[in-house]
Amino acid sequence: MKQKPIIFSLFESSSVADEICKKLQCPRGHLTVHHFPDKEILIRLHTPVENHTVIFVASTDRPNDKMAALFFAAKTAKEIGAKKVILIAPYLAYMRQDKQFHSGEGISSKYYAQLISSHFDELITIDPHLHRWHALDELFTIPTILLHAAPTIARWVKENINNPVLIGPDKESQQWVANIAKLANVPYLIAEKQRFGDTAVTSTISKLENYSNHAPVVVDDIISTGVTMIAIINQLKSSNTTPIHCIGVHGIFADNAFQKLSALAQVVTCNTITHSSNKINVSTLIADAVANSGIA
Ligand code: R5P
Repeated sequence: MKQKPIIFSLFESSSVADEICKKLQCPRGHLTVHHFPDKEILIRLHTPVENHTVIFVASTDRPNDKMAALFFAAKTAKEIGAKKVILIAPYLAYMRQDKQFHSGEGISSKYYAQLISSHFDELITIDPHLHRWHALDELFTIPTILLHAAPTIARWVKENINNPVLIGPDKESQQWVANIAKLANVPYLIAEKQRFGDTAVTSTISKLENYSNHAPVVVDDIISTGVTMIAIINQLKSSNTTPIHCIGVHGIFADNAFQKLSALAQVVTCNTITHSSNKINVSTLIADAVANSGIA
């Protein structure tokens, strides 16, 4: 009889891991990460994994803090007999550094993908920042499953916002925003963004005046410092368009970004990174993908 995969949540109690276990009737693995006084770590898998497929659910926000544990967990599982080790990274880090923007820089997305490919046998992720890269197999040498939150977000918009107009903050966001708008059957606009540094952004939305009776919903794949959203909000406020909703697929919220943003708008994210703003639940989307992938 085929062995059931064992699901480990690597960094936090994860509703995604819970949903997969429920859907697939899989056992939940137990692991601990011991932190030594000198800041080294030791991963211990308490659940036996010999001859099992092991799935680690681990969002890779704050990737440098998590790097050692992520890769040591994969190696440990293999070392003690797992036959296959799969990473479910609802948020996949480092994808925005997708070219050499200045001389002397590296292409971090490629290096991070190489690290993941050399530790895991498969990857499942949601809406990675594919902009200059067009597909995950341009970066990863392992099989990947790419999921889209658009249908789940479109449903949330339809159920929660009356007469919306979606606004994408830049041309990179067009792919997500256009898809959600189509599925929700609502209009959308794409703004022009200029970034002058990590926390300096300007944004211009054309034709906003055509949607003065609509509820603006700013949609982006990632909210990090929040300055992209705030630049759009400032323009919306100057044309008196309120209340404003912001939806991020992945709410990273660097420093106090959430506090700043939520003072200006209603902020909603998908649960790809655990946060109090998680109102859009993509756990079923992931669990269904695992169930349909033949892994279980
Ligand atoms: C960039 O291309 C992304 O799609 C997001 O717009 C960006 O990462 C948002 O970052 P921040 O919240 O720091 O403006």
